[in-house]
Amino acid sequence: MSHDSEPTPLSAAPGAPLRGRLRPPGDKSISHRAMILGLLSIGETRVEGLLEGDDVLRTAAAARALGASMERLGEGRWVVRGVGIGGLSDPAETLDFGNAGTGSRLMMGVVGGQPVTATFDGDASLRSRPMRRILDPLRLMGTQVLAEAKGGRVPLTLRGPREAIPIRYETPAASAQIKSAVLLAGLNAPGTTTVIEAAATRDHTERMLRLFGAEVSVTPHGPDGHGRAVALTGQPTLRGTEVVVPADPSSAAFPLVAALIVPGSEITIEGVMMNPLRTGLITTLIEMGADIERLREREEGGETVADLRVRASRLKGVDVPAERAPAMIDEYPVLAVAAAFAHGTTRMNGLHELRVKESDRLAAVAAGLKANGVAHLIEGDDLLVHGDGAAPPGGGTVATHLDHRIAMAFLVMGLATAEPVTVDDGAMIATSFPSFLPTMQALGAGIGE
Ligand code: S3P
Repeated sequence: MSHDSEPTPLSAAPGAPLRGRLRPPGDKSISHRAMILGLLSIGETRVEGLLEGDDVLRTAAAARALGASMERLGEGRWVVRGVGIGGLSDPAETLDFGNAGTGSRLMMGVVGGQPVTATFDGDASLRSRPMRRILDPLRLMGTQVLAEAKGGRVPLTLRGPREAIPIRYETPAASAQIKSAVLLAGLNAPGTTTVIEAAATRDHTERMLRLFGAEVSVTPHGPDGHGRAVALTGQPTLRGTEVVVPADPSSAAFPLVAALIVPGSEITIEGVMMNPLRTGLITTLIEMGADIERLREREEGGETVADLRVRASRLKGVDVPAERAPAMIDEYPVLAVAAAFAHGTTRMNGLHELRVKESDRLAAVAAGLKANGVAHLIEGDDLLVHGDGAAPPGGGTVATHLDHRIAMAFLVMGLATAEPVTVDDGAMIATSFPSFLPTMQALGAGIGE
C-alpha cells in the first residue's frame, strides 16, 4: 500500500476508569497462515474469526492473484478454495503487501518453492525492511531472485524452481517469519526440510501445517533445550479444513495495559489465545504486580484460550530476560508504556530484532517516551525505563513511522498521563486492529481525532 492519504493524528486524554468486556480481533499470525495454507490446499478452507485488517486482506489478495478463489460469507467468515501445491499461477500484477511483513515474507516462501514468478512490493515501511533473511535460505532451495531493491529489499521478483531443494537451515535470528518461509518453500521439496532455531518462536505454521495434513516433527534443540528442530516432509497433499481464529494476544495487549494503568479500571478481555510462545507480556506484567486473572480456560481451534480479567494495579520495575523476547516480540512498545507507570526500573534485554519491525521500534519507543517526559535509556540492545509510580507528564506528540503498534501503545499511555498524548498518524492501526478506536471508546477511553 502506498500510504498516500493524509495522516490521521489521534489523541488520548486521561479520564474515567475503563469498564466492560471486549473481544479483540482474530490473531494476525493465524489469519495470514489460514489464507496461505488455504491457497496451497485442495478443496475448501472455512475460516471463522479472520482478522479483516489491511495486512491480512493483502495476503488474501495475493493468494487470489496466485490462483485461489475466495468468498466472504460474513464478518470474519471466509471460504478459500485452493489450488494445491504445484497448482499456482503467475500473478498478473505486482503483489502489493502494503505494511505487511509477515504476509510478504511467508508468501515469498510460497512463491520461492513453486514454479511461478512474482514481484513483491509494499509501503515505505515494508520497503525499508530486510528481506535477505528470507532470500538467503530461498536461494539455497533453488529460488532465483530476478530483481531486488538495494540491500535485499522490496520491490523484488522471485522465480521458484519446478521442485524446491530440501535443506537443513539454522535461522540467523529468532524469527517465526524466517522459519515459516523456509517450511512453506519446503512444501514443494522432495524430502525433508528442517529448520533449526536457537530459541523457540511462535509455532503457528507448524501447528497449522499439521491441521492441513502435513507431517511435521518438532524436537528440542541446543544444549539448554530452548531451541527447536522443525522437520517437514515435503510434497504432502494439503486438504482444506476448518480454521477457527482465536483473539490476538498482541492486540489484547493494548486494552490490557490500559486497564492496568488507568486508576479504578476493571475489564474482561474474552477468548485471548494463550499459546505459551505468545504470552511473554502477561508473564512479565504479572511479575510487575499486575492483577490479571485467567478465567474459563478452554480449547478453541487447536489453541488454549482464556478470558482475562484485568484490574488497575500498582506496578513495579522488573528485569525482562532476553530469552523471553520471542514470546513477546510485538509487545515491547506497550510494555515500555506500562513500565513508565511502574515504580523502579524496568530493564528489557536483547531487543535487537525491534530495530527491523514496521519501524525501528527501539528508536520510536525511546522518542515517544522522551516526548512525554519519561526517563529512559538505551544501552546497546537493552531498553531501561525508569518510573516513580506516578503518572508521567505526557503532553507530547509521538511520531509513529507507519507503525500500528507505536500508535496504539502511545494512545494507551495518554489515557493515564497527566496531559493528553497525541500520535501523528493512527491510520496504520487498521493493519492489525481495525476496531481499536470504537473498542477502546466503548470501555470509556477518551481517544479520538
Ligand atoms: C510473526 C512473527 C514475528 C512478529 C510478527 C508476526 C509471524 O516476526 O513480529 O508480527 O506471524 O510469524 P519475526 O519472525 O520477524 O520475529
